[in-house]
Amino acid sequence: MKITAINTSPRTNWNTATLVKEAAAGAASAGAEIQYFDLCRLEKYSGCISCFRCKREPNEGKCVYQDGLEPVLRAIREADGVIIGTPNYLGQPNAGFIALYERLVFQNLTYQKERWHYHESKTPALFIMTSNMPEEGYRSGAAADMIRRYQDGLTSSVGPTEVFISGDTLQVKDYSRYHWTLFDPAHKQKRHDAVFPKEKERVFRLGAALAQGK
Ligand SMILES: Cc1cc2nc3c(=O)[nH]c(=O)nc-3n(C[C@H](O)[C@H](O)[C@H](O)COP(=O)(O)O)c2cc1C
Repeated sequence: MKITAINTSPRTNWNTATLVKEAAAGAASAGAEIQYFDLCRLEKYSGCISCFRCKREPNEGKCVYQDGLEPVLRAIREADGVIIGTPNYLGQPNAGFIALYERLVFQNLTYQKERWHYHESKTPALFIMTSNMPEEGYRSGAAADMIRRYQDGLTSSVGPTEVFISGDTLQVKDYSRYHWTLFDPAHKQKRHDAVFPKEKERVFRLGAALAQGK
């Protein structure tokens, strides 16, 4: 059982990375072998370059552009389960996530009305998003639509995708260094101390379930 875990946040030890690592630890506890990627540590990469080689033999259904994302796309292809976490940047996943998402989803689109996808997508996935916006903000409206769109895209290109949202995150260690009147630092710290550890436990269990095929 191979699990590919991807953190798209440029911060390799903060909210998103912590939850991705925790889900990966859950998968490892169930016996999975983990391949972990921080996108910010990869060689230079980009989104889809519109070469259309994924739509021509012998590469149909496969992005073959050789840049920093190639090993990640390969690891996703070879995985039995995928964990991918992104921070919410300006109301959507961050740029690194979107670069990967474009390549992941577009490679599997045939542009044929007879069949939409080259490959059936059966690899279970866990999509994690962290944000300032509390979890409740994703229950309806534009944020709910946005999450559903990415969930559907991952479901069509990877496989059945579960969503985990961690909202109201602690964005910095010391809020007193910034003139940010929008946040209550005491509340942020309190939530981080009381709720975030429980979220870590929940994603650990989701990671274990992913590895067990549940
Ligand atoms: C460029 C940028 C844009 C952001 N935009 C949003 C946003 O639109 N909505 C939101 O709820 N949080 C936003 N945030 C906050 C992050 O989503 C949040 O702090 C997240 O947990 C950061 O993840 P990390 O700790 O793994 O880096 C933004 C942060 C940055 C740096």
